[in-house]
Amino acid sequence: MTPAPPRTWRIIDLIKWGEDYFKSHNISNARRELEWFLGYILDLKRIDLYLQFEQPLSKAELNTFRSFVMRRIKGEPFQHIIGIAPFYGRDFKVTGAVLVPRPETELIIEILKKHGRAGSVLEIGTGSGCIAITVLLENLADTVIATDVSKSALAIARENAERHKVSQISFRHHDFLQDDISSSFDVVLSNPPYIGTDEMSGLQPEVRDHDPPAALTDGADGLNFYRRFARQRAILNTGGCMLLEIGGEHQVPELEKIFQPAIFSLKFHKDHLGIPRVAEIR
Ligand SMILES: C[S@@+](CC[C@H](N)C(=O)[O-])C[C@H]1O[C@@H](n2cnc3c(N)ncnc32)[C@H](O)[C@@H]1O
Repeated sequence: MTPAPPRTWRIIDLIKWGEDYFKSHNISNARRELEWFLGYILDLKRIDLYLQFEQPLSKAELNTFRSFVMRRIKGEPFQHIIGIAPFYGRDFKVTGAVLVPRPETELIIEILKKHGRAGSVLEIGTGSGCIAITVLLENLADTVIATDVSKSALAIARENAERHKVSQISFRHHDFLQDDISSSFDVVLSNPPYIGTDEMSGLQPEVRDHDPPAALTDGADGLNFYRRFARQRAILNTGGCMLLEIGGEHQVPELEKIFQPAIFSLKFHKDHLGIPRVAEIR
């Protein structure tokens, strides 16, 4: 008897099979992640995956797909597997040196859009550069200075700026907790490391084991960057504002103490889940 021919796997078969498999492993965004994998392996846009849904994968493509699925099941975030993360509808290169951009951080861009275009913007802790680069791509500032204490993060941010052909951005190596800033800006942005040391062990392994620790925690109670921003208010031009991402409801009372109402005006913006996510300080 002749052996049965090896099964042909088409794009659509892998999406259907993978969706059930990922869901059985509690991966909630299953279909989207599979589209990312297949789009990367086949060099196809999302829409083209569906236009060419009957296309079979070669043996080599199938092996890559299998290895991606196995890594994902073991808890590696899909962005680290393909080395790309989406932010505000665009792709950014990511490595183990930078935080994977989060959808909730896009709120900073939404708020800036409501404020209208700014002259000068400073971003502290740029990581992949996703915020600073998006500010320019969305035409929300004339110039941007973006800093990070990590030289390897700055190298990735520079690559992302080149990838998106953004030139009005200056990346600087700077330790915000140690070194003063002598200039002032219309808008100061930051998604600082705001997780307290005692909260680190409770993080999902996907975050704790793959994002750089210095991007997650200040090594203390998660509030050191906000204290520093409160002491550095001379970095704001008259009428300017700071937009700082925060960890959620539990940090609100602490931020109210740090940015005392007698000195600052303070307002919290909620993210798509209704969680206070960005503090606006004037
Ligand atoms: C939460 S990540 C934010 C990355 C990126 N802006 C984003 O939103 O995806 C915080 C960033 O702050 C940087 N950082 C940590 N300590 C710093 C310091 N003392 N001065 C400047 N940047 C710092 C980290 O290297 C990391 O890239």
